Amino acid sequence: MSAPEPHTRDNAIRGRLNAFFLRLIEPLMEKLFGDDKRRLFADLEGDVVEIGPGTGANLPYYPAGVNLIGIEPSLHMQNALREKAEKMGVPLEVRGLKGEAIDLPDASADAVVATLLLCSVDDPIQVVSEAMRILRPGGKYVFIEHVAAPKGSVLHLWQTLFFRPHHWLFEGCHTNRKTWEVLEAAGFEVLDYEHHTKWSIMFYVAPMIVGHATKPR
Ligand SMILES: C[S@@+](CC[C@H](N)C(=O)[O-])C[C@H]1O[C@@H](n2cnc3c(N)ncnc32)[C@H](O)[C@@H]1O
Repeated sequence: MSAPEPHTRDNAIRGRLNAFFLRLIEPLMEKLFGDDKRRLFADLEGDVVEIGPGTGANLPYYPAGVNLIGIEPSLHMQNALREKAEKMGVPLEVRGLKGEAIDLPDASADAVVATLLLCSVDDPIQVVSEAMRILRPGGKYVFIEHVAAPKGSVLHLWQTLFFRPHHWLFEGCHTNRKTWEVLEAAGFEVLDYEHHTKWSIMFYVAPMIVGHATKPR
């Protein structure tokens, strides 16, 4: 297999805006997901790969001692991520790649983390397949994703109305993916998640799935 091409995305205006916005809403992210992250991240250890870590909203939740690799294609996110990791003293290796093609060997990660990721990637099935490939048997996939609201609901209507501006502003983010279907079809041994509604000013992305999965042994 040939090595994946480095993929650094430099979207001059939207990339900067997005990174600025993500940093700005970190306190909101803590309010919405802090308890979930403390619970889901508590037993992570060893080699952990985070796909799409953005500006590093998850860095405070990793237990000390994990070897962390971030797979992040956006140049502006990479810069903010490195800066935050340095400030916090968290050792972190950043690779400018897309999650669809990760340059890590098969069965090399104890855990893979993905939060608010599969809404934004080009090919969610391929990203989850890469996560599965790099996980060791028994390894853990931890996720938080915003997802489609039930068809026919008012929220679903808002997700449709906001789709285009949201997709443009947030560099390809989909308001309404049925991400649980991708995870259910991926072949995990254990898949444990709940649907939650997390209200914020971005009310149309309130429906979430929060959970973890295990690669078959
Ligand atoms: C909404 S942000 C979430 C960031 C972070 N995970 C969080 O919870 O705050 C989505 C992130 O996924 C990254 N991303 C987009 N497409 C990607 C891809 N194909 N592979 C890996 N990361 C990607 C974006 O650059 C961005 O950092």
